[in-house]
Amino acid sequence: MPDSAPDLSPAAVTLRGRRPRDLPILTRWLTDPDAEWRAWDAPYLPAWDTTVNLQRYAESLPGRPPSPHERVIDVGGVVAGMVNRAEEDPAGGGWWDLGILIYDPAHWGRGLGSRALALWVQATLDETDAHVLTFSTWGGNDRMIRAARHLGFREAGRVREARLIRGQRFDAVRLDLLRRDWTDLDRRT
Ligand SMILES: CC(C)(COP(=O)(O)OP(=O)(O)OC[C@H]1O[C@@H](n2cnc3c(N)ncnc32)[C@H](O)[C@@H]1OP(=O)(O)O)[C@@H](O)C(=O)NCCC(=O)NCCS
Repeated sequence: MPDSAPDLSPAAVTLRGRRPRDLPILTRWLTDPDAEWRAWDAPYLPAWDTTVNLQRYAESLPGRPPSPHERVIDVGGVVAGMVNRAEEDPAGGGWWDLGILIYDPAHWGRGLGSRALALWVQATLDETDAHVLTFSTWGGNDRMIRAARHLGFREAGRVREARLIRGQRFDAVRLDLLRRDWTDLDRRT
């Protein structure tokens, strides 16, 4: 009997800690300098630095226990991407910045990111004392901005034309969500 195809619907999205067997696929996506996600996730950073930093990060993974501030996005058993978070200084101030990356463009625009973000917001509110959450992106990343807005994030600020990307200027954009704005995970996605 052939294996059945994985369920790649938003309902099949879970966030989980990294496992050793995830490393080959994580390394492959993170270290490919031509991967399409690189054109969307902080494309204003110098490409060479990003390549070197991601290579170092991927090499460090086997020797590091999974961080509580990173999760693998698992869709029906497929490693589809990752989420992370970092506390803005000072520690204990209650401001956490969130990040998300779905590697394969074939998985974009199908509701997976919105569902993963909703789960990550819920997990962060459950696991930290966050008072406010943010996403930091750029004006051309409509999928990111719309996914965050869909969850109830509001635009907190725009620095006009601050990001130079492939010769064109875009706004730097930050979106925020207060803990009290978040009502119920399942009403959000
Ligand atoms: C950003 C990202 C996480 C969004 O996840 P996704 O699964 O692609 O997005 P969803 O399918 O959940 O859709 C999110 C919103 O984008 C809209 N959208 C989908 N495809 C779109 C497209 N091609 N252009 C514009 N908007 C689009 C959806 O309609 C939805 O908006 P709505 O809720 O108002 O209807 C994902 O695309 C990704 O990882 N991209 C590459 C890396 C990246 O940009 N990371 C973020 C760095 S800040």
